[in-house]
Amino acid sequence: MTSHIAQPVALPCGAVLPNRLAKAAMTEGLADAMNRATERHETLYRRWAEGGAGLLITGNVQVDRLHLERPGNIAIDGNGGLDALCRLAKAGTSAGNHLWMQINHPGRQTPSSVNPRPLAPSAIALAAQEAGCGEPQAMTEAQVEDVIARFVHAASVAQNCGFTGVQIHAAHGYLLSQFLSPLSNDRRDSWGGSLENRARILMEIVRGVRQAVGADFPISVKLNSADFQKGGFSDEESMQVVRWLGDEGIDLLEISGGNYEQMCMIGRTDDQMDRAKPLAESTRRREAYFLDYAARVRPLASMPLMITGGFRSRDAMEEGLRAGELDVVGLARPLCVDADICRKLLTGARDRAPSPEDELSIDRAALGPEVDDKTLRTTESWAQVAWSCMQLLRMGNGEDPDLRMSLLEALVGYDANEKAALAALCRS
Ligand SMILES: Cc1cc2nc3c(=O)[nH]c(=O)nc-3n(C[C@H](O)[C@H](O)[C@H](O)COP(=O)(O)O)c2cc1C
Repeated sequence: MTSHIAQPVALPCGAVLPNRLAKAAMTEGLADAMNRATERHETLYRRWAEGGAGLLITGNVQVDRLHLERPGNIAIDGNGGLDALCRLAKAGTSAGNHLWMQINHPGRQTPSSVNPRPLAPSAIALAAQEAGCGEPQAMTEAQVEDVIARFVHAASVAQNCGFTGVQIHAAHGYLLSQFLSPLSNDRRDSWGGSLENRARILMEIVRGVRQAVGADFPISVKLNSADFQKGGFSDEESMQVVRWLGDEGIDLLEISGGNYEQMCMIGRTDDQMDRAKPLAESTRRREAYFLDYAARVRPLASMPLMITGGFRSRDAMEEGLRAGELDVVGLARPLCVDADICRKLLTGARDRAPSPEDELSIDRAALGPEVDDKTLRTTESWAQVAWSCMQLLRMGNGEDPDLRMSLLEALVGYDANEKAALAALCRS
């Protein structure tokens, strides 16, 4: 029987991914106090490169040190560290796989401890208070142009340092996704209003990056299928943006969804916060959260499609690829538990990737009886992300993941790590 996951995929620019399994971006938090790559990145990415994925996408790398998604992010902002980036690129491609840098600006999703007044399309604060983000200020046109130039610069640096492609992060409620959504962008100038205006910054970045890196270097975009919020970036709007990205000649479109207010990227919408409500039958049957959208966007998408979120069984991956619904399967949380899972799926040694999220919950008693269901589920979602982050820190230290770690231990450990990283950042 043909294994679809093991087939190479040729991208429009001419590059070839050796197989169809990709490690999706996961923030590592391993940078030094100057937001430069470290040996711990090399250790982690060498381990993943040996783990069999055809494509590794880095955690989000920031274009501005004043706008970090967390203190331990790598940033490319005149802060040196190019040799360390080259070493990271070498380690992360050591098995002949691809390694792409994900480039980002978090905009209003910058923690207030990093920047109490982050730049954003408009001065509209996040509703999710628990995320601890700053009070956004609306960008001037010159600041918009500056951000475009920063993305283009970061892509050139990635190419010069030996990364084999770049991914522009336009999903999950970060700056480019904030521009796309009418809920966070109420600008009246040429960067807001119509969809064409809201998408302008993304399109200018893609165009600028292509000009800088040339025709044969892979460019990917990670885009939300929708924000899953009333009045937000809609499914139909997303499809139009996909058409435009096709016209720009991008090489791989990764589909995801959600933001800090709706954590659909890890399968949690408000509905799913209520454990009594099961996942929609179609999602359960088909496993991956965004496959229904993929089937609809497929006829419009001229570029290869990567779908990330929820894929765990080899059968579902093979079936999606066989049916032509997608070209690349994105996996994230399983690689925090088993760095070799892609190789095991490819050789048939395993027919399922681990799903730590199904095993990890918080006992209501730990938070107090007065805690309502929504708070409990929100805390659980953040704690699950913290748990995965803690495993990446361990792997960066050359240790194995600790599968016995509880969610509460993860929250405490994560908090201590972030505080230490922030203190180091403030001293630098
Ligand atoms: C610890 C952690 C860190 C993440 N960091 C990023 C990131 O830096 N950039 C990004 O686009 N997505 C990030 N994500 C989302 C993942 O790329 C992916 O979309 C999501 O986890 C769903 O895939 P999965 O079900 O295979 O885990 C992160 C997810 C986790 C769990």
